[in-house]
Amino acid sequence: MTKPLRLGIAGLGTVGTGVVKIVRQKADLLAARAGRPVAISAVSARTRDKDRGVSLSDYTWEDDPVALATRDDVDVFVELMGGSDGPAKAATEAAITAGKDVVTANKAMLAHHGQALATAAETAGRVLRFEAAVAGGIPVVKALTEGLAGNDVTRVMGVMNGTCNYILTRMQATGQGYNALFEEADKLGYLEADPNLDVGGIDAGHKLALLSSIAFGTQVNFNDVELEGIQSITLEDIKHAADMGYRIKLLGVAQLTGRGLEQRMSPCLVPESSPLGQLEGGTNMVVLEGDMVEQIVLRGPGAGEGPTASAVMSDVMDIARGIRVSTFGQPASGLQQATAARASTPAPFYLRMDLEDKPGALAKVATVLGDAGISIDRMRQYRHDDTTAPVLIVTHKTTRTALDSALDAMGKLDVMASSPVALRIETV
Ligand code: HSE
Repeated sequence: MTKPLRLGIAGLGTVGTGVVKIVRQKADLLAARAGRPVAISAVSARTRDKDRGVSLSDYTWEDDPVALATRDDVDVFVELMGGSDGPAKAATEAAITAGKDVVTANKAMLAHHGQALATAAETAGRVLRFEAAVAGGIPVVKALTEGLAGNDVTRVMGVMNGTCNYILTRMQATGQGYNALFEEADKLGYLEADPNLDVGGIDAGHKLALLSSIAFGTQVNFNDVELEGIQSITLEDIKHAADMGYRIKLLGVAQLTGRGLEQRMSPCLVPESSPLGQLEGGTNMVVLEGDMVEQIVLRGPGAGEGPTASAVMSDVMDIARGIRVSTFGQPASGLQQATAARASTPAPFYLRMDLEDKPGALAKVATVLGDAGISIDRMRQYRHDDTTAPVLIVTHKTTRTALDSALDAMGKLDVMASSPVALRIETV
């Protein structure tokens, strides 16, 4: 009989438990597809005595993930502990040194140490795979690495944090503010242990940095992702954006420009009628653009036991089938160090401001925009209260630099009742 592929699984939270269930419940299917059985030799987690709803009695227990990762009866170390450093990184490095292949769901670890870990794996002749680290159950790493291997990738976009999309779409649907919906997401257990990873855009930024590396053949560079979270998005902006035909999304965009690699994870407006604009709740969506394929849109669950375990098994099954793909789609030694281009691609912007209700107020704003070389596309003024009036402006395409200089000048006008809000409108 063909030798089984033997897994050592470190981390038995939602995802780890889901992987154990798949290996146990789908043993025949996996063996038929891979041409060899997939088995678990040993497991490890912080707490041993806990009912996880699945029997672990067939597997050796290791308290120490490094000991698990280096066991003789483990072929693939499956790292599902999380955390950018600490035990996850130590055990991954130990596994590679001990000659194991590695499958991980750990976006933070790869965003910070992906280049070093991929290099170590390749030097040792091992593979390090991470389908589950990006957009949960959506097979986006495979689509980009393998499906689009014949394309020059031109742009990668995505809503890759379900919690943020849940909060933003619930604000729109219920008319409740950010704080109330943050609490609702918390009660539903959607938030990471450190909620700033979600609402600060960090988790999604990690994912974008990983996709950028595959898409553009560049070394993972999370530090140069321009990050902005959703904490300051107000109900007012959600409503006004909707009035102008847009939805607000925490949108990741990566593209190579003449000036270098642009990576942004920030709240943006997208047309309400676009696939991204239609995305509701905790679902993820990734849009991939290539010169040959034009555009493909992948939509699916970005988190949860089944979807994330499904993605882990995709990597495990590749290894079982003998499919050995480089971590970032090409040998790590050939990945280029990209120059970071900060928001250099021109775009239209949405501006919201409260103006003092005085003669000439709008003219002053228009003059400031004109002086900065920014042309107005559309404008709307809402009914004023006693002294101020909300004004919305959609500009034609302009650069962030021109916009910043206009915002600076607007701040000095004597007709501004509050600081203007500016959000990029992404062409999708
Ligand atoms: N917390 C993430 C989300 C899932 O809300 O999409 C894990 O990356």
